Amino acid sequence: MKIIKAANYENMSKRAADLVYRELKEKQIQVLGLATGGTPIGFYQEIIKEIQRDSLSLDWLYTVNLDEYIGLSPDHRNSYHAYMKKHFFQYVDIPLEQQLLPDGMSADPDKEAKRYEKLVEELGVDLQILGLGQNGHIGFNEPGSSFKGKTSVVDLAPSTIDANARFFEAEEEVPKQAITMGIATIMRSRKIILLASGAEKAEALKEVITGEVTEKIPGTILQQHLDITIIADKEALSLV
Ligand code: GLP
Repeated sequence: MKIIKAANYENMSKRAADLVYRELKEKQIQVLGLATGGTPIGFYQEIIKEIQRDSLSLDWLYTVNLDEYIGLSPDHRNSYHAYMKKHFFQYVDIPLEQQLLPDGMSADPDKEAKRYEKLVEELGVDLQILGLGQNGHIGFNEPGSSFKGKTSVVDLAPSTIDANARFFEAEEEVPKQAITMGIATIMRSRKIILLASGAEKAEALKEVITGEVTEKIPGTILQQHLDITIIADKEALSLV
């Protein structure tokens, strides 16, 4: 594991953007895996600045997102489709048909999960961005998820519903299920960058870096990935 300690959230975001931008510009990676949540917002802002500064076209790039809530349509303001449009896609020239996310409105979510798994497997993710849940989840793979898991329909942990309620008007509005890439899906990515910021993530990040590898804390599996970089701020790294 490579660990980059950033002074603060802004610095974490900038370092992550620089790294990913280099992969896009110099290596022209074909498939970029994206994450949502509060943590990567600064990263998106920074990388958009770099893309715009160089007028870099990304019309060749495919993006695959980790997850989507079940029951939220793409234009629902809390869907991850809407998040991605708001924070990234509206500023870049990636064709709409190359912006891939699970369909949370599918009439058959299990079938949709299988379709998405196949799609991600066929594309092959060159670089996956990850955030970290306070309980150690990655994507929406909650504690207890199998390390062998593929993309599937999952129930969200009460603590995750609680943590994500801040984006909704009321806690009852937070969907209870999602479609998420599985841990095995995520681990297939050639390269991974995990972002973490703030004291709320310190406990989980300590486990990810130094803890026993256990399905009780999904992020600990990342210790076994061959090319992972963790970019975290001082608060998130305060227990390591
Ligand atoms: C959410 C997302 C994850 C994200 C995590 C942390 O539930 N599904 O992909 O990494 O929780 O979110 P945040 O960055 O807002 O703390």
